[in-house]
Amino acid sequence: MRNFITVEDAGDLNEAYEKAEYVKKHPFADQKLGKNKTMLLVFFNSSLRTRLSTQKAALNLGMNAIVLDINQNSWKLETERGVVMDGDKSEHIMEAIPVMGQYCDIIGVRSFSGLKDKKFDYAETILNQFVELSGRPVVSMEAATRHPLQSFADYITIEEYKKKIRPKVVLTWAPHPRPLPQAVSNSFVEWMKKADYDFVITHPKGYELDPRFTEGCHIEYDQKKAFEGADFIYAKNWSAFSDPNYGKVISTDKSWTVNSEKMELTDDAYFMHCLPVRRNMIVSDEVIESRNSIVIAEAGNRVVSAQTALREILMGL
Ligand code: CP
Repeated sequence: MRNFITVEDAGDLNEAYEKAEYVKKHPFADQKLGKNKTMLLVFFNSSLRTRLSTQKAALNLGMNAIVLDINQNSWKLETERGVVMDGDKSEHIMEAIPVMGQYCDIIGVRSFSGLKDKKFDYAETILNQFVELSGRPVVSMEAATRHPLQSFADYITIEEYKKKIRPKVVLTWAPHPRPLPQAVSNSFVEWMKKADYDFVITHPKGYELDPRFTEGCHIEYDQKKAFEGADFIYAKNWSAFSDPNYGKVISTDKSWTVNSEKMELTDDAYFMHCLPVRRNMIVSDEVIESRNSIVIAEAGNRVVSAQTALREILMGL
Protein backbone atom coordinates (compact mmCIF):
# COMPACT_ATOMS: atom_id res chain seq x y z
CA MET A 1 0.00 0.00 0.00
CA ARG A 2 1.41 3.41 -1.00
CA ASN A 3 -1.28 5.77 0.35
CA PHE A 4 -4.41 5.32 2.49
CA ILE A 5 -7.01 7.67 1.07
CA THR A 6 -10.01 5.69 -0.24
CA VAL A 7 -11.58 2.28 0.33
CA GLU A 8 -9.73 1.02 -2.74
CA ASP A 9 -6.43 1.46 -0.90
CA ALA A 10 -7.60 -1.15 1.64
CA GLY A 11 -7.89 -3.84 -1.06
CA ASP A 12 -10.09 -6.85 -0.32
CA LEU A 13 -12.09 -6.03 2.83
CA ASN A 14 -12.13 -9.59 4.19
CA GLU A 15 -8.34 -9.62 4.00
CA ALA A 16 -8.15 -6.12 5.50
CA TYR A 17 -10.30 -7.35 8.42
CA GLU A 18 -8.04 -10.38 8.96
CA LYS A 19 -5.03 -8.04 9.11
CA ALA A 20 -6.88 -5.80 11.57
CA GLU A 21 -7.69 -8.83 13.77
CA TYR A 22 -3.98 -9.73 13.77
CA VAL A 23 -2.99 -6.17 14.73
CA LYS A 24 -5.57 -6.10 17.52
CA LYS A 25 -4.31 -9.40 18.96
CA HIS A 26 -0.61 -8.53 18.56
CA PRO A 27 -0.28 -4.74 18.89
CA PHE A 28 3.48 -4.76 19.56
CA ALA A 29 4.52 -7.61 17.22
CA ASP A 30 5.82 -5.30 14.49
CA GLN A 31 7.90 -2.79 16.42
CA LYS A 32 10.89 -3.51 14.20
CA LEU A 33 8.96 -2.40 11.11
CA GLY A 34 8.87 1.21 12.28
CA LYS A 35 12.30 1.39 13.93
CA ASN A 36 14.09 4.62 12.96
CA LYS A 37 11.04 5.71 10.92
CA THR A 38 9.11 8.92 11.58
CA MET A 39 5.45 9.70 11.02
CA LEU A 40 4.45 13.34 10.68
CA LEU A 41 0.82 14.12 11.51
CA VAL A 42 -0.27 17.43 9.97
CA PHE A 43 -3.50 18.98 11.26
CA PHE A 44 -5.26 21.86 9.51
CA ASN A 45 -8.29 21.18 11.79
CA SER A 46 -9.07 20.11 15.36
CA SER A 47 -9.03 16.47 16.48
CA LEU A 48 -9.15 14.28 19.57
CA ARG A 49 -9.51 10.68 18.34
CA THR A 50 -7.52 10.91 15.12
CA ARG A 51 -4.64 12.70 16.78
CA LEU A 52 -4.35 10.23 19.67
CA SER A 53 -5.17 6.99 17.88
CA THR A 54 -2.86 7.61 14.92
CA GLN A 55 0.02 8.57 17.22
CA LYS A 56 -0.66 5.47 19.32
CA ALA A 57 -0.69 3.31 16.18
CA ALA A 58 2.64 4.78 15.01
CA LEU A 59 4.20 4.22 18.45
CA ASN A 60 2.90 0.63 18.58
CA LEU A 61 4.75 0.03 15.30
CA GLY A 62 7.98 1.41 16.72
CA MET A 63 7.84 4.72 14.83
CA ASN A 64 8.49 8.20 16.12
CA ALA A 65 5.53 10.54 15.75
CA ILE A 66 5.64 14.32 15.25
CA VAL A 67 2.45 16.38 15.34
CA LEU A 68 2.17 19.71 13.52
CA ASP A 69 -0.85 21.97 14.10
CA ILE A 70 -0.71 24.25 11.10
CA ASN A 71 -3.09 26.85 12.50
CA GLN A 72 -1.50 27.09 15.94
CA ASN A 73 2.27 26.88 15.76
CA SER A 74 3.31 27.06 12.12
CA TRP A 75 3.46 29.73 9.42
CA LYS A 76 0.09 30.43 7.85
CA LEU A 77 0.05 28.59 4.52
CA GLU A 78 -1.20 29.84 1.17
CA THR A 79 -2.93 27.06 -0.79
CA GLU A 80 -3.92 28.86 -4.02
CA ARG A 81 -1.45 29.19 -6.88
CA GLY A 82 -0.85 32.53 -8.55
CA VAL A 83 -1.72 34.57 -5.47
CA VAL A 84 0.33 37.71 -4.67
CA MET A 85 1.36 36.82 -1.12
CA ASP A 86 1.06 40.27 0.42
CA GLY A 87 -1.38 39.20 3.16
CA ASP A 88 -0.96 37.26 6.42
CA LYS A 89 0.16 33.97 4.79
CA SER A 90 3.95 33.65 5.00
CA GLU A 91 4.63 30.40 3.18
CA HIS A 92 3.19 28.62 0.16
CA ILE A 93 2.07 25.01 0.51
CA MET A 94 4.20 24.20 -2.57
CA GLU A 95 7.36 24.75 -0.55
CA ALA A 96 5.98 23.69 2.84
CA ILE A 97 4.87 20.20 1.73
CA PRO A 98 8.18 19.04 0.19
CA VAL A 99 9.96 20.46 3.24
CA MET A 100 7.72 18.38 5.53
CA GLY A 101 8.58 15.36 3.40
CA GLN A 102 12.26 15.88 4.26
CA TYR A 103 11.55 15.25 7.95
CA CYS A 104 9.52 12.04 7.88
CA ASP A 105 8.85 8.69 6.20
CA ILE A 106 5.02 8.81 6.23
CA ILE A 107 2.71 11.85 6.36
CA GLY A 108 -0.81 11.91 7.83
CA VAL A 109 -2.96 14.87 6.81
CA ARG A 110 -6.19 16.28 8.22
CA SER A 111 -7.66 18.87 5.90
CA PHE A 112 -11.45 19.36 6.02
CA SER A 113 -13.55 20.79 3.23
CA GLY A 114 -14.02 24.54 3.48
CA LEU A 115 -17.67 24.06 2.38
CA LYS A 116 -17.49 27.24 0.27
CA ASP A 117 -16.17 25.94 -3.06
CA LYS A 118 -17.47 22.48 -3.99
CA LYS A 119 -15.09 22.13 -6.93
CA PHE A 120 -12.02 22.90 -4.77
CA ASP A 121 -13.25 20.56 -2.00
CA TYR A 122 -14.24 17.62 -4.21
CA ALA A 123 -10.98 17.83 -6.20
CA GLU A 124 -9.22 17.08 -2.87
CA THR A 125 -6.94 19.98 -3.73
CA ILE A 126 -4.93 20.03 -0.50
CA LEU A 127 -4.64 16.27 0.07
CA ASN A 128 -3.58 15.71 -3.54
CA GLN A 129 -0.85 18.32 -3.18
CA PHE A 130 0.56 16.26 -0.29
CA VAL A 131 0.46 13.17 -2.51
CA GLU A 132 2.15 14.99 -5.39
CA LEU A 133 4.71 17.09 -3.52
CA SER A 134 5.72 15.32 -0.31
CA GLY A 135 7.54 12.36 -1.86
CA ARG A 136 6.12 10.27 1.02
CA PRO A 137 3.19 7.88 1.48
CA VAL A 138 0.14 9.86 2.60
CA VAL A 139 -2.54 8.77 5.06
CA SER A 140 -5.78 10.75 5.05
CA MET A 141 -6.74 11.64 8.61
CA GLU A 142 -9.99 13.10 7.17
CA ALA A 143 -9.77 15.09 4.02
CA ALA A 144 -12.40 17.08 2.14
CA THR A 145 -14.40 14.13 0.83
CA ARG A 146 -13.45 11.05 2.89
CA HIS A 147 -12.39 9.82 6.35
CA PRO A 148 -10.97 6.34 5.61
CA LEU A 149 -9.41 5.64 9.03
CA GLN A 150 -12.84 6.25 10.59
CA SER A 151 -14.67 4.10 8.05
CA PHE A 152 -12.17 1.26 8.42
CA ALA A 153 -12.68 1.38 12.21
CA ASP A 154 -16.46 1.40 11.63
CA TYR A 155 -16.16 -1.63 9.36
CA ILE A 156 -14.01 -3.49 11.92
CA THR A 157 -16.55 -2.68 14.65
CA ILE A 158 -19.48 -3.95 12.59
CA GLU A 159 -17.61 -7.17 11.78
CA GLU A 160 -16.91 -7.66 15.50
CA TYR A 161 -20.50 -7.05 16.65
CA LYS A 162 -22.61 -8.42 13.80
CA LYS A 163 -24.91 -11.35 14.57
CA LYS A 164 -25.75 -12.07 10.90
CA ILE A 165 -23.46 -12.61 7.93
CA ARG A 166 -25.09 -9.70 6.07
CA PRO A 167 -26.45 -7.26 8.67
CA LYS A 168 -28.79 -4.35 7.92
CA VAL A 169 -26.80 -1.15 8.41
CA VAL A 170 -28.57 2.22 8.34
CA LEU A 171 -26.79 5.55 7.87
CA THR A 172 -29.10 8.23 9.23
CA TRP A 173 -28.72 12.00 8.94
CA ALA A 174 -29.43 13.74 12.26
CA PRO A 175 -29.64 17.44 13.12
CA HIS A 176 -26.70 19.66 14.10
CA PRO A 177 -26.57 23.45 14.55
CA ARG A 178 -23.46 24.02 12.43
CA PRO A 179 -22.52 23.04 8.86
CA LEU A 180 -20.42 19.85 8.84
CA PRO A 181 -18.52 18.25 5.95
CA GLN A 182 -19.89 15.22 4.10
CA ALA A 183 -16.57 13.33 4.42
CA VAL A 184 -17.48 10.82 7.16
CA SER A 185 -20.77 9.97 5.43
CA ASN A 186 -19.26 9.69 1.93
CA SER A 187 -16.57 7.42 3.26
CA PHE A 188 -18.97 5.30 5.30
CA VAL A 189 -21.08 4.84 2.16
CA GLU A 190 -18.15 3.59 0.08
CA TRP A 191 -17.01 1.14 2.79
CA MET A 192 -20.53 -0.21 3.38
CA LYS A 193 -21.07 -0.69 -0.35
CA LYS A 194 -17.81 -2.59 -0.68
CA ALA A 195 -18.64 -4.68 2.42
CA ASP A 196 -21.91 -5.59 0.64
CA TYR A 197 -24.08 -5.27 3.75
CA ASP A 198 -27.83 -4.64 3.50
CA PHE A 199 -27.22 -0.89 3.50
CA VAL A 200 -29.83 1.89 3.69
CA ILE A 201 -29.30 5.67 3.80
CA THR A 202 -31.97 7.91 5.31
CA HIS A 203 -32.06 11.71 5.34
CA PRO A 204 -34.49 14.57 4.75
CA LYS A 205 -35.01 15.67 1.14
CA GLY A 206 -32.28 18.14 0.16
CA TYR A 207 -29.52 16.25 2.00
CA GLU A 208 -28.65 13.90 -0.88
CA LEU A 209 -24.94 13.07 -0.84
CA ASP A 210 -22.73 13.18 -3.93
CA PRO A 211 -24.30 10.60 -6.30
CA ARG A 212 -20.79 9.39 -7.21
CA PHE A 213 -20.78 7.86 -3.70
CA THR A 214 -24.43 6.83 -3.35
CA GLU A 215 -24.96 5.35 -6.82
CA GLY A 216 -26.79 2.05 -6.41
CA CYS A 217 -27.65 2.68 -2.73
CA HIS A 218 -31.10 2.26 -1.20
CA ILE A 219 -32.19 5.75 -0.08
CA GLU A 220 -35.26 5.90 2.17
CA TYR A 221 -36.64 9.35 3.08
CA ASP A 222 -38.85 7.92 5.87
CA GLN A 223 -36.43 7.50 8.79
CA LYS A 224 -38.74 5.22 10.79
CA LYS A 225 -39.21 2.90 7.81
CA ALA A 226 -35.42 2.80 7.32
CA PHE A 227 -34.91 1.80 10.98
CA GLU A 228 -37.24 -1.22 10.75
CA GLY A 229 -35.28 -4.44 11.34
CA ALA A 230 -31.89 -2.67 11.38
CA ASP A 231 -28.90 -4.29 13.08
CA PHE A 232 -26.74 -1.14 13.19
CA ILE A 233 -27.78 2.52 13.28
CA TYR A 234 -24.96 4.85 12.23
CA ALA A 235 -25.91 8.46 12.93
CA LYS A 236 -24.14 11.43 11.36
CA ASN A 237 -24.90 14.98 10.40
CA TRP A 238 -23.74 16.48 7.14
CA SER A 239 -24.42 19.77 5.39
CA ALA A 240 -26.14 19.94 2.01
CA PHE A 241 -24.17 18.78 -1.01
CA SER A 242 -26.53 19.88 -3.80
CA ASP A 243 -26.38 23.35 -5.30
CA PRO A 244 -27.38 26.05 -4.53
CA ASN A 245 -27.15 24.94 -0.87
CA TYR A 246 -23.64 23.38 -0.88
CA GLY A 247 -22.18 23.49 2.63
CA LYS A 248 -25.34 24.93 4.21
CA VAL A 249 -27.57 23.79 7.08
CA ILE A 250 -31.01 23.56 5.49
CA SER A 251 -32.75 21.80 8.39
CA THR A 252 -32.28 21.28 12.11
CA ASP A 253 -35.46 19.20 12.37
CA LYS A 254 -35.25 17.48 15.77
CA SER A 255 -37.72 14.84 14.66
CA TRP A 256 -34.60 13.24 13.06
CA THR A 257 -32.77 12.88 16.40
CA VAL A 258 -32.09 9.20 17.17
CA ASN A 259 -34.11 8.30 20.29
CA SER A 260 -35.28 5.18 22.12
CA GLU A 261 -38.64 5.14 20.39
CA LYS A 262 -36.92 4.84 17.00
CA MET A 263 -34.39 2.29 18.25
CA GLU A 264 -37.42 0.14 19.26
CA LEU A 265 -38.18 -0.25 15.55
CA THR A 266 -34.85 -1.98 14.95
CA ASP A 267 -33.76 -5.57 15.54
CA ASP A 268 -32.09 -4.58 18.83
CA ALA A 269 -29.63 -2.52 16.77
CA TYR A 270 -26.30 -1.23 17.96
CA PHE A 271 -25.88 2.54 17.91
CA MET A 272 -22.76 3.98 16.25
CA HIS A 273 -21.34 7.48 15.76
CA CYS A 274 -17.81 8.58 14.87
CA LEU A 275 -17.73 11.18 17.69
CA PRO A 276 -17.62 13.96 18.73
CA VAL A 277 -21.41 13.90 19.04
CA ARG A 278 -23.91 16.57 20.09
CA ARG A 279 -26.21 14.90 22.58
CA ASN A 280 -29.94 15.53 22.21
CA MET A 281 -29.35 16.89 18.71
CA ILE A 282 -27.90 13.80 16.98
CA VAL A 283 -28.83 11.24 19.65
CA SER A 284 -30.66 11.20 22.97
CA ASP A 285 -28.75 10.68 26.23
CA GLU A 286 -30.71 7.48 26.73
CA VAL A 287 -29.59 5.89 23.43
CA ILE A 288 -25.93 6.87 23.62
CA GLU A 289 -25.74 5.60 27.21
CA SER A 290 -27.66 2.39 26.46
CA ARG A 291 -26.13 -1.09 26.39
CA ASN A 292 -26.54 -1.02 22.60
CA SER A 293 -24.28 2.00 22.17
CA ILE A 294 -20.88 0.90 20.85
CA VAL A 295 -19.38 4.33 20.26
CA ILE A 296 -16.46 3.77 22.67
CA ALA A 297 -15.49 0.41 21.14
CA GLU A 298 -15.77 2.09 17.73
CA ALA A 299 -13.39 4.87 18.82
CA GLY A 300 -11.06 2.23 20.29
CA ASN A 301 -10.87 0.58 16.89
CA ARG A 302 -9.38 3.80 15.47
CA VAL A 303 -6.00 2.57 16.78
CA VAL A 304 -6.55 -0.76 15.01
CA SER A 305 -7.52 0.81 11.67
CA ALA A 306 -4.60 3.25 11.77
CA GLN A 307 -2.10 0.58 12.81
CA THR A 308 -3.30 -1.82 10.11
CA ALA A 309 -2.97 0.84 7.41
CA LEU A 310 0.44 2.07 8.66
CA ARG A 311 1.74 -1.49 8.94
CA GLU A 312 0.86 -2.13 5.29
CA ILE A 313 2.59 1.08 4.22
CA LEU A 314 5.71 0.29 6.29
CA MET A 315 5.90 -3.17 4.73
CA GLY A 316 6.15 -1.48 1.32
CA LEU A 317 8.90 1.02 2.24
N1 CP B 1 -13.99 10.75 14.66
C1 CP B 1 -12.92 11.58 14.59
O1 CP B 1 -12.22 11.67 13.58
O2 CP B 1 -12.69 12.26 15.73
P1 CP B 1 -11.71 13.52 15.86
O3 CP B 1 -12.27 14.61 14.97
O4 CP B 1 -11.73 13.91 17.31
O5 CP B 1 -10.35 13.12 15.40
